[in-house]
Amino acid sequence: MSEAGPPRVVVLASGSGTNFGALRSAIEADRCHARIVGLVSDRKKAGALQRAARHGIPTAVLPKPKGETRDEWSARLAERVRSYAPDLVVLAGFMRVLSPAFVDAFPGRVVNVHPSLLPAFPGIDAPAQAVAAGVRLSGCTVHLVDHGVDTGAILAQAAVPVLEGDDAASLHQRIQVQEHHLLPRVIDAIGRGHLALDPVRWLRTATGPDAVLVAP
Ligand code: GAR
Repeated sequence: MSEAGPPRVVVLASGSGTNFGALRSAIEADRCHARIVGLVSDRKKAGALQRAARHGIPTAVLPKPKGETRDEWSARLAERVRSYAPDLVVLAGFMRVLSPAFVDAFPGRVVNVHPSLLPAFPGIDAPAQAVAAGVRLSGCTVHLVDHGVDTGAILAQAAVPVLEGDDAASLHQRIQVQEHHLLPRVIDAIGRGHLALDPVRWLRTATGPDAVLVAP
């Protein structure tokens, strides 16, 4: 973390950016001790870019060209993100898998929000997976990013019911309400030093609960 002041956060987003918006609003309302210093997207049409620009947050777009490998693109992305000198990188609806080279550039400092109760339903279309499986409870997870897909240490979770007649969209909407509370709370806890992210310990216990669980 920075020596003084709130931690510098770079947000990575591919979509409409409601999680980014919730984080930004929480910071503005003094409910989250952090400072967003940049938003980077892989999609030039991502709504998150407009949201950021409206609030004077610097943005960058780095689409992955077809001819470039994931490793090459991840390395370029890491360089760009590093140029903002972040203390934390927050994946808020970032829909690409990052190479280990990216994750290792910010050890123990990359946080993701995922729309399921991990380890259930990792990967894409998590709400659709939950509906198809017929589970009665789903939710969201905020976790550290490791080299796997949605496998990093779980920091916090919030649960929602899956209701009769739910489809992926209605379930996702209910989950997102919780994401918008949970993500700012976790970033706030990290920013205030209440949630210790010890990279060495994290690397040793990559699959274990290595941090305090934040109640939703
Ligand atoms: C969020 O629900 C987030 O959990 C999900 O994308 C959505 C983005 O919404 N992320 C993933 O599925 C990552 N595997 P937003 O753009 O409105 O914040």
